[in-house]
Amino acid sequence: AAPSAVIVAIDGPSGTGKSSTSKAVAAKLGLRYLDTGAQYRAITWWMITNGIDTDDPHAIAVAAGKPGIVSGTDPAAPTITVDGLDASGPIRTQEVTSKVSAVSAVPEVRTLITELQRSIAASAEGGIVVEGRDIGTTVLPDADLKIFLTASPEARAARRSGELRGKEATDLAATKEALIKRDAADSGRKTSPLAKAGDAVEVDTTELTLDQVIECVVTLVEEKRAAR
Ligand code: DC
Repeated sequence: AAPSAVIVAIDGPSGTGKSSTSKAVAAKLGLRYLDTGAQYRAITWWMITNGIDTDDPHAIAVAAGKPGIVSGTDPAAPTITVDGLDASGPIRTQEVTSKVSAVSAVPEVRTLITELQRSIAASAEGGIVVEGRDIGTTVLPDADLKIFLTASPEARAARRSGELRGKEATDLAATKEALIKRDAADSGRKTSPLAKAGDAVEVDTTELTLDQVIECVVTLVEEKRAAR
């Protein structure tokens, strides 16, 4: 990226409005956008469709380098392909969601995906918003601005089940349980767990509308840009 490019890291658990916020902030400020969760979902989808046992970390490690994952970084129309195939639909199924924590905990997977993320961020002219779990702590520790989004488990489950409604049968209690389990796995893993960077700004979105969160982050980015 050019020296004037701004790099924004947005981390937090699921259901905090991370994706919606990140896309909108990138679109408003003319930045690129990278959904790193989609990359972990894509590698998980590839493992499932290729018959790799997702409970076997060794099998996952051995296969990790095989799928070719490409992320399109236009915030208005982000894309993800695996070996040239559009994976944007299949990566959102409950099967992938239930297996992604196990796959993304494998160090070989994280090393490969982290390298991919760094190269995408480095080549994003004008800057990029990168959202995930370990962006501020591990992937881009020198990001210009780090945001850590939080919300109560109730608010997060309600948002997630709202997103799923109409796509797959779901109920609030089951969604909340699955979400808490996945966050615990993501926070408890050994290699680059979900964590707030020491220099991240924490934004609790429980009582905020999406527009308010977007406004808050846009203001923080503009302040950073003005200070440079
Ligand atoms: O943001 P998401 O729900 O699409 O992410 C899916 C999973 O990918 C999440 O449960 C943990 C993993 N992930 C990760 O380990 N590191 C990231 N930077 C982003 C996602």
